[in-house]
Parts: sequence; structure tokens; C-alpha cells
Amino acid sequence: MTHALGRVLVVVPTYDEAENIEPVVSRLLAAVPDAEALVVDDASPDGTGEIADRMAAADPRVSVLHRTGKEGLGAAYLAGFSWALEHGYDVVVEMDADGSHPPEQLPDLLQALADADLVLGSRWVQGGRVVNWPRTREVLSRGGNLYTRLALGLPLRDATGGYRAFRAGTLRTLHLGEVASQGYCFQVDLAWRAVRAGLRVAEVPITFTERERGSSKMSRSIVLEALWRVTLWGAADLPRRLLRAARRPRAGRATA
Ligand code: GDD
Ligand code: MN
Repeated sequence: MTHALGRVLVVVPTYDEAENIEPVVSRLLAAVPDAEALVVDDASPDGTGEIADRMAAADPRVSVLHRTGKEGLGAAYLAGFSWALEHGYDVVVEMDADGSHPPEQLPDLLQALADADLVLGSRWVQGGRVVNWPRTREVLSRGGNLYTRLALGLPLRDATGGYRAFRAGTLRTLHLGEVASQGYCFQVDLAWRAVRAGLRVAEVPITFTERERGSSKMSRSIVLEALWRVTLWGAADLPRRLLRAARRPRAGRATA
């Protein structure tokens, strides 16, 4: 069975998600029965990889990519994307394993992809929400997105989110071989690449609900990596943005 957009692969990165992986994949396959799932596990000490193997043995829609150690969200997604392109999928989705990204909203993302090259599930557009997130995380996310908008001139409300849908062609044009981001700034990296490539990036509202089981892998070093990388990208891009602003005719002024 295939979706109207073609074959859909949902890439689910996992590190110590033993209590979460089965429920979330079941919800996904119930919500979008013609989608397939690829679990990308970084040798989780809690046995998530073995649980995923059992799920794959029981359902042909589930596959598992085992990696040898924890190398960060960015590296896991890059490996998953390569696998997806090698296996001929038409649409590739990013989704957290902890239930924060409701699989039941995937049809909204896929629908928006009919008129876009990349669809971001967004917490910070009208209709988007977060549930049970500690105030500190909300401040970090809103602050990170504000900084990203200012430093990069990125016209997006939620460039750091991790629930998104790519056309395969989009992934092919983003020069994934050059992506160095290891942690969660990977998300900003890809969104920014897509905008600079002139692709159509759409945002659809999602409800992000904080995990009930297991723990977040967010860390100080992940935040610092995002901060220094976004700052460097912004600085390197400044001449281009200034040049563009100078060339743009100012509103209200006669262009003679
Ligand atoms: N394979 C692998 N390797 N998976 C990882 C790694 C890693 O090094 N680090 C995290 N993950 C997986 C987790 O197991 C989970 O499925 C998903 O990536 C998200 O990790 P969380 O630790 O639950 O992230 P979060 O809830 O704190 O952060 C959320 O918000 C961020 C920004 O606001 C996520 O949606 C992030 O993607 C997002 O950037
Ligand atoms: Mn989470």
C-alpha cells in the first residue's frame, strides 16, 4: 500500500526508549497504516534495539538500523535518511520516540506536504501547543527560536522542532554530506538549508506533549553546540543578507 505522495518512511531515533518505542510505533501504524517505520538505535543500554528487532520480526512495516554507539540525534537522522533514500522512499518523516510528537497528527503534516517541500510540525504557530513542558524548556525553545530568527533571518516560528516531513527530493538537494551538526541544532541546520535552497517550507500546528516515561537527552553541551553553530552560520551569512537588504528597494520610496 502506498500513500498519495508515495512510500512514507518515519525515522524514529532512539536512545534508551525501551518503555516508549513499542507504544509509539503501534500508534503510528494505527494512525497511518500505509506508512513504514525505521528505528535508528544507538546501541541503547536499556535494550531498546532488541525490542525494536522483535517488532520488526513481527511486522514487515518496521525496520531497525543499529548503530554502534551514541553519536547524537543529527548523526542518527543522517544515517536514517541515507537508508531511506537507498530504499527508494518518497517521503521521509522525523519523529521522536517518546510520544511527544503525536502520530495521530502525521496526516496533517503529509497533507501539507502536497504543496511544500518540507513541512515542520510547529509548537509556536497559531494552534500549536505544548503540554506539561517545564517552564525552563519552554523558555529555552522560544528563546532558541527567537535567536535563530534574528541570527539567520529565518522566517520560521519553530526551526528547532523535531516532527517534520521531507520529500525525498528535498533531502537530495540539501547536501547532507556536508552536515556537521551532531545534536539538536541539526534541526535548525536542515531548515536553514531548505530555506536557502529556495524550497517551500510550511509549518503546521502540532501539540507537543512532554514524555511520561524515560528521560530527555537534552544537555548543556547540546545547547552550547546549537548556540555556537547558529552564531557562526549567522556571521558567515551576514554579507549575503546585507547585500540583499541593500539591493531591495525600500517601501514607500519611488524606484526611479
Ligand atoms: N539514536 C539516537 N542517538 N537517538 C537520540 C539521541 C542520540 O544520540 N539523542 C536523542 N535521541 C532520540 C531520543 O531517544 C528521542 O526519541 C528523540 O531523539 C528526542 O530526544 P529527547 O531527549 O526526548 O528530546 P527533547 O524532548 O528533550 O527535545 C525535543 O525538542 C527539541 C527542541 O525543542 C525534541 O523534539 C528535539 O528533536 C527538538 O530539537
Ligand atoms: Mn522528548
